[in-house]
Amino acid sequence: MSKSILINEVGLRDGLQIQPKFVPTSGKLEIALQLIEAGIKSFEAASFVSPKAVPQMSDASDLFKSLPKKDNIYYSALLFNQKGYERALESGAKSIAIALASTEKMNMANIRMSLPDAINNLGTLIKMAKNDGLDARAYISTALGCPYEGNVSSETVINLADKMFELGADKIAIADTIGSGGPALVEEVVGKAANKFGAENLIVHFHDTRALGLINAWVALKIGVTEFDTSLGGLGGCPFAPGAAGNLATEDLAFMLEDSGYDTGINISKVREAVLIAERYTGQKL
Ligand code: COA
Ligand code: ZN
Repeated sequence: MSKSILINEVGLRDGLQIQPKFVPTSGKLEIALQLIEAGIKSFEAASFVSPKAVPQMSDASDLFKSLPKKDNIYYSALLFNQKGYERALESGAKSIAIALASTEKMNMANIRMSLPDAINNLGTLIKMAKNDGLDARAYISTALGCPYEGNVSSETVINLADKMFELGADKIAIADTIGSGGPALVEEVVGKAANKFGAENLIVHFHDTRALGLINAWVALKIGVTEFDTSLGGLGGCPFAPGAAGNLATEDLAFMLEDSGYDTGINISKVREAVLIAERYTGQKL
């Protein structure tokens, strides 16, 4: 039997957050429904953040409430503070994603917190999620390089992951927010993390800035990682991380995996139809 790999679609959040043209809730829903039709079972569907900071996510509550609820489909909500948590809970989110960056400067740029404050904040939010019976995944962004501070050591990432697991995170995502890492660095960082925490407890999140997304995913796959964040059409980027290009494309990773004998449950031509819908709403050629 072929090995199953979970693709977590982040296009509705990471993909859209940087898009200048507001995609109406009905458009976001149309994209989501087509992706469900294509076999996607896991989404980071929105972020519950300040609408002034990220206007594209201002309708996160409406979107969450309108997504079809099915037992086998998983929607997570990215958030950074208690206000975001309360909005996500009220909208019916069953899973939260909380991110902090590996460096002081990126945390300040993104969430206006120092790294120690961001760690405490993450602990508080995970505790709230666990009390409410929600799943909590914790993201280490800029794990393979920071736009403000440059190289990030693997020890930094491992130490942060260790703290996050201690604070109760169910899974840790190693995120290359600006796509600065290459396969050798992935081998080092993801390899050390897998040795210490188990590959089954890791998620990888790659951006394709230097066209290294697929090879990086391949290295993580060979280390044993089974969950990957991707975005339809490679849509994506972070408004607070200069240089961040789009995410690794869902259809590219699904193709590579299926072609290599892994099972993703994804129909690639149906993902392409979702990409056309996203092009129509964003006005971007993907
Ligand atoms: N949802 C809605 N509104 C929120 C909010 C949330 N989760 N968090 C804060 N706000 C609002 C506050 O109500 C306040 O509004 P007001 O000016 O009308 O009173 C305003 O945002 C500022 O709130 P404050 O608590 O002072 O936060 P801040 O200015 O220190 O900003 C963040 C911190 C994290 C809220 C903000 O920087 C943010 O949402 N950043 C987005 C980060 C992001 O999405 N990055 C990309 C993904 S990695
Ligand atoms: Zn990202």
